[in-house]
Amino acid sequence: MKLLVKNIGGLVGIYETAPLILKGKDLGSLPIIHNAWMAVEDGLVVEYGKMEDWPGISDWRDLEVLDAESGWIAPAYVDSHTHIVYPAARAGEFSDRIKGLTYEEIAARGGGILNSANKLMELSEEQLFEDAWSRLNEIAATGTGAVEIKSGYGLTLEGELRMLRVIAELKKKHPLTIKSTFLGAHAYPSNYKERKSDYVDLIINEMLPIVAKEGLADYIDVFCEANYFSVDDTIRIVRAGKEYGLKAKIHVNQFTSIGGVQASVNEGALSVDHLEVLTEQDIQALQGSVTMPVALPGCSLFIKIPYTPARQIIDAGLPLALATDFNPGSCPSGNMNLVMSLACIHMGMTPEEALNASTVNAAYAMGLSETHGSLSLGRPAHFILTQPINEWAEIPYYFGSNKIKQLYISGKAVKA
Ligand code: NIG
Ligand code: FE
Repeated sequence: MKLLVKNIGGLVGIYETAPLILKGKDLGSLPIIHNAWMAVEDGLVVEYGKMEDWPGISDWRDLEVLDAESGWIAPAYVDSHTHIVYPAARAGEFSDRIKGLTYEEIAARGGGILNSANKLMELSEEQLFEDAWSRLNEIAATGTGAVEIKSGYGLTLEGELRMLRVIAELKKKHPLTIKSTFLGAHAYPSNYKERKSDYVDLIINEMLPIVAKEGLADYIDVFCEANYFSVDDTIRIVRAGKEYGLKAKIHVNQFTSIGGVQASVNEGALSVDHLEVLTEQDIQALQGSVTMPVALPGCSLFIKIPYTPARQIIDAGLPLALATDFNPGSCPSGNMNLVMSLACIHMGMTPEEALNASTVNAAYAMGLSETHGSLSLGRPAHFILTQPINEWAEIPYYFGSNKIKQLYISGKAVKA
């Protein structure tokens, strides 16, 4: 099957050699070909150029021609941090926050993550699957082509396995590329409040071996935060994960800086996510590391906490990725376009930086650099086609609207 896309207003994120990460000043440079065409064969990008140099069509066999009508083409977004499998909305907590309670106060009285964990076993695997399936379709419609999904609302062996099996099923059946992360260390279940280290033992000695044996996780995560998992807990869990070949992606510095960034970097974590509170030492720790910092501005918007200091990170010469954190408590949205708008408006990122952070760097943050995040000859044609626009900045500029006309995975339109 061949696909020819013509009259592309702007073809962005297309490289002779796809970059692994973009950092510092390079994060702001976005390759662009105005008035372009692109050809796809067997799911791969095989040719591209400017319309004025278009050789025309010599072989019409098996060829689908798509007129982009001045819409733009960019690599499909990569959302490297979500909790898309969850049992129910938590709109009651939303109302409570409007009345003045904070996210942490709600958690302290048994709401938050524990609220979701209490409901998880009420839903069958089939129901969890169906709900997550429609959320995947929703994010496909706003341009996301690959997504990481975490467990973490089970908090028992049975519950965590239930979530991970649902993710495994989604992986098998949904056209989006999915990576799965074991987040048993998301919160202490209430019956372990007085014996927290027993819960860490349970994660390491009982959950992890089964999760690994059944091949249910690509990564391991810990919510490293005051009142959640300490830096020592985090190191123990990350090291245990390593024994099973699982790289770490760590929730860190959402509310406080307790040394989780340094520990994660030392352990060779693939990413550190949140970073709303960031110290100079945290920035220094990230220098020269293999760890991608990931910002989640939808969470800052929704629970009214500071935005990750993107300028400080980028101006220090570091890379940065963006993700949604789609979850029922701190960010019930999986819209990467909105994430880019927030990154531009509240974090001082340019529209070009925001796209690179949502594609190239985001692919790195979920181990998909080989196949996702940029377009290049011979690479899979995972891309988005936008409505007609004049410049890329119009995408984050029209905040809250969806200018994505169609997502293509391996050159095929994804029905959402
Ligand atoms: O990334 N902070 C920890 N975990 C999620 C929130 C989960 C929830 O509230 O259900 C987050 O924000
Ligand atoms: Fe999260």
